[in-house]
Amino acid sequence: MKQLWDATDPVWAAIAVQATGACYVYDNVEFPPGATPARGRIGIEIHAEHALLLVDRCCYEGPSGPVAEWLTTGTRTFVSITRLREWVCGELRDAFRRTPTRTRTLHDVVDLDAVHRAVDQTKAGDDVVEAGELYAELAMKIRGQDPALRTVADHVARHLARRASRRPCSIMLLGPSGVGKTCTVGALAEKLASRRPDVGFVQIDLSEYSEAHRVSALLGAPPGYVGHGGPVPLLETLRTEPASIVLFDEFDKAHPDIGQVLMQALDRGCLGSGTGETVDCRAAIFVFCANTGSDAFFDEIATRVDRDALAVDRACRNQLLAADVTPALIGRIGLCVAFARLDARARAEIITIGIVKIAAEYGVDVISIDPTVVAALVATRGREALGARIDEHRIDHDLGEAFINAARDHRGQPVRVCAGPPPHCDPMHVGDYGPDEGNA
Ligand SMILES: Nc1ncnc2c1ncn2[C@@H]1O[C@H](COP(=O)(O)OP(=O)(O)OP(=O)(O)O)[C@@H](O)[C@H]1O
Ligand SMILES: [Mg+2]
Repeated sequence: MKQLWDATDPVWAAIAVQATGACYVYDNVEFPPGATPARGRIGIEIHAEHALLLVDRCCYEGPSGPVAEWLTTGTRTFVSITRLREWVCGELRDAFRRTPTRTRTLHDVVDLDAVHRAVDQTKAGDDVVEAGELYAELAMKIRGQDPALRTVADHVARHLARRASRRPCSIMLLGPSGVGKTCTVGALAEKLASRRPDVGFVQIDLSEYSEAHRVSALLGAPPGYVGHGGPVPLLETLRTEPASIVLFDEFDKAHPDIGQVLMQALDRGCLGSGTGETVDCRAAIFVFCANTGSDAFFDEIATRVDRDALAVDRACRNQLLAADVTPALIGRIGLCVAFARLDARARAEIITIGIVKIAAEYGVDVISIDPTVVAALVATRGREALGARIDEHRIDHDLGEAFINAARDHRGQPVRVCAGPPPHCDPMHVGDYGPDEGNA
């Protein structure tokens, strides 16, 4: 097998996002004919008689399957990356246009010429991170939250573009439990840390600061207090990596005084430690996550078609006000974003990813999943309100035994997850796709 296209390439990332949207009609769980959710990240694997389009953990395979027709290209051989790029920007783009299940084409969403220019610039100065690239990276990992991800990517990209910030970038992510808020911050940190040496990541669970006497510990206990002189991860990270992402998780469970402590940082761009030292945080990105917001609010957000970022920001601030967060703090947060409850389509994608991930924990390499297995898991009613974590438990419950059997019976062999009852795993033969003649 070979992978000609890199997941970090923004051109490919944008196409991958589009391809995902193009292929999946998850509401009634209708995979494209021949599509086999499988392993792998993003890439295209091409051999003289075989073409694979990998989109995250899903794989579209040809030429025998009708997916090759979907791509309208059948069997392709590419002699160089340049030729592959031409195909991607020409025939593949047209194929997207003609695919009946699609409502948008690649060009509706991304100006490929502009993306190419961005790619070239990226090569010149590798630490430049464009909003589109950031969004594509987030969207690969976080499903069903596109409007929120776009808003976050735009906001962060603007912060990164500033040569001198007066204060840290600050974002509040509101949403029900288990819809991808914390995950998004992790993905953001991973992306930025891969591009810039001054980006680190520190996660502070604010539920540990719910009592008044704990508040001072956030910046290091003052002399004479328990914990004085101990490590202060927040300050240590910012000292060594000033452009770090700081995740203040479970903000709604923090003592209100935590807000007072952070106001100075949001205002003046510095944090005063318990020992009197001052740490610069102007280049940092502070992200707060909270479940603050009524059920009605999150239901309403999910039904908004355009999800105008400013209107959502305003509505989120009202929810924070209603939850008695101090107006002075709300006013200092740069952007508020709402994460929607997960719909059936997003759950189907997350479940597909979850099956591969959980199987790997049992030492099983899943290369393909029967769509009806995913459909059955999605069909469990009433789960939307519980977030994605509950689906992970269900995958383990329903498929754990099949994974144990597969680990024992098909040691090291890639398997296909098949519908039951009971669900089981069958071994699959993975072909060898020959030498990498196209990677010129
Ligand atoms: N939108 C999503 N896309 C992909 N995976 C998701 C998504 N939402 C949740 N998950 C999965 O569920 C797990 C929990 O998600 P996450 O920690 O981001 O939830 P959260 O929104 O922060 O919830 P909480 O408010 O309870 O902290 C993740 O590890 C991930 O596997
Ligand atoms: Mg969380």
